[in-house]
Amino acid sequence: MAVLVVGGAGYVGSHAVRQLLDRNEEVVVIDNLETGHIKAVPGECTFFQGDIRDTLFLEKVFESTPIEAVMHFAANSLVGESMKDPLKYYDNNVFGTLCLLKTMKSFGVDKLVFSSTAAVYGEPENIPIAETEITKPENPYGETKLAIEKLLRWCEQAYGIHFMILRYFNVAGAHPSGEIGEDHFPETHLIPIILEAACGKRDKLLIYGDDYHTPDGTCIRDYIHVVDLADAHILALEKLRKENISRIYNLGNGSGFSVREILDAAKEVTKREIAAEIAPRRPGDPAILQASSLKAKVELGWCPVYTSIHSIIESAWKWLQLFPEGYQDR
Ligand code: UFG
Repeated sequence: MAVLVVGGAGYVGSHAVRQLLDRNEEVVVIDNLETGHIKAVPGECTFFQGDIRDTLFLEKVFESTPIEAVMHFAANSLVGESMKDPLKYYDNNVFGTLCLLKTMKSFGVDKLVFSSTAAVYGEPENIPIAETEITKPENPYGETKLAIEKLLRWCEQAYGIHFMILRYFNVAGAHPSGEIGEDHFPETHLIPIILEAACGKRDKLLIYGDDYHTPDGTCIRDYIHVVDLADAHILALEKLRKENISRIYNLGNGSGFSVREILDAAKEVTKREIAAEIAPRRPGDPAILQASSLKAKVELGWCPVYTSIHSIIESAWKWLQLFPEGYQDR
């Protein structure tokens, strides 16, 4: 039976696909290629292009191959964009997942690894953030992910669909092979933007606010390497298989870096000057997001490898140098 990777042509999904294939899993990928890249999908897996909001499409996929478990990465995931267009986020993220769950239910698929986000916590009261922290999202993106998390609890109770909810902090870096990496259009994430400024693809970094309640006034985030994140998905799947239970895990590195600290680290890694300018705050941005991932380490046996910010930036820099224009498949 196969693992269905929904959104497997995207940044995180494509790294999880690699790791599944490395473990000789049978992998089926679906992606609407709105933000994903066909070139990120390896030839060894079966690929279907389509949208999760299209239930007939989903049924065809589930009919084509027996599916044992689903990893669900397909979502819109930009905080700023979600503030401007919440309907887009509710439609794709919430309605899309609803369609996926209905199809899982009718085909008797009862295992789901779900990509959630630190954005469910809003502006947390306690740092580092544990899974027990109160959830009160401050943007529609986080709100849509929390809505699905709540839905999953009811689906477990009613239909026996077990889930692993993985709340990602700030994902960065690229596969060590340099073959797959981060390619968004437009790019809005801090590390790729800084690296684009380092190689002259853009003039400068705009620092969104330097008046936050943090030591240097810029926002603090917890950066996790995409390969470590993908590893956690494999461990979560193994736990689902062995124990048939549902859990929520935070996935971050446990250390926070401010925007200015990331900029300095990027200057060290690239050995280039990188221009930066202070700009107004970006709506929806909390001041500090920093994880406690103790639960994932203890219960999943998760052991991140790329724990230094320099190693994360280095792998992203390698990818950008190998693929300065990204996948070029649009
Ligand atoms: N930032 C800048 N300038 C830029 C881009 C970003 O100053 O040009 C700042 C942001 O204001 C923020 C920090 O850098 O303070 C990180 O911003 P990103 O856009 O890289 O990431 P976010 O923290 O907004 O969001 C990311 C994911 C979300 C996820 C969140 C969880 O995109 O899906 O991490 O921590 F929810």
